[in-house]
Amino acid sequence: MAKLRPLIAGNWKMNGLARDLGEIGGALAAAKAGPELAFCVPATLLAAAAKAHPGRVGAQDCHSETAGAFTGDISAPMLADLGVSYVIVGHSERRHDHGESDRMVQAKAAAALAAGLTPIVCVGETLAEREAGRAIEVVAAQVEASLPEAAGGALAVAYEPIWAIGTGRTASLEDIAAMHGAIRARLGRRLSAPEKVRILYGGSVKPDNAGAIFTLEDVGGALVGGASLKADSFAAIINAHPAAGV
Ligand code: PGA
Repeated sequence: MAKLRPLIAGNWKMNGLARDLGEIGGALAAAKAGPELAFCVPATLLAAAAKAHPGRVGAQDCHSETAGAFTGDISAPMLADLGVSYVIVGHSERRHDHGESDRMVQAKAAAALAAGLTPIVCVGETLAEREAGRAIEVVAAQVEASLPEAAGGALAVAYEPIWAIGTGRTASLEDIAAMHGAIRARLGRRLSAPEKVRILYGGSVKPDNAGAIFTLEDVGGALVGGASLKADSFAAIINAHPAAGV
């Protein structure tokens, strides 16, 4: 299989004011060329970020409808209208804090694709599910239920074990490799071009562990939370990718 261009996406979550936008330019200046980069900033910063860095900006959620009586929500065509290129859907914090089901995530991903955005569809198991030996079964079921039917390859999947997010714990390299292989195997059941889908790893990715994770087969990049907020640490992660600077 031809090597896919890796995607490294920063997820700022509910962090960042206008004065922090310079971190994006700083990271771009310090990062070696190679990987595709996405900065998923809060909704308040999307317009300014997309204007300054076209093609590199993502949102963290979208509604599944294009327009209507949905107070406080933002649709995928509205994001595209701002010049946004990516959108994270189904992050575990939204699944947990906002009750988002696989079905809702699937509808959001479909809406994103229809608007010409690249959805980054998140999946991941809880610690209890991993300890019960059910991680692969749970994540494989999420993949099948969260991806739009017959979509092409214009999306990314992010495997983020919930217990590894923001905790400083990462899954072992063996567990990441096994899970990414299992996800790859499942993609073929839903998508028309599964070989084109990048499977990102997320959960406490830092400059000192990124390089080893990036060498794994089927790891097509990373979704980075805390370490994406500062230009230095995000650039160090990008530069740890074997595709950077070649
Ligand atoms: P983290 O977050 O890198 O801070 O663990 C990752 C994420 O939730 O996307």
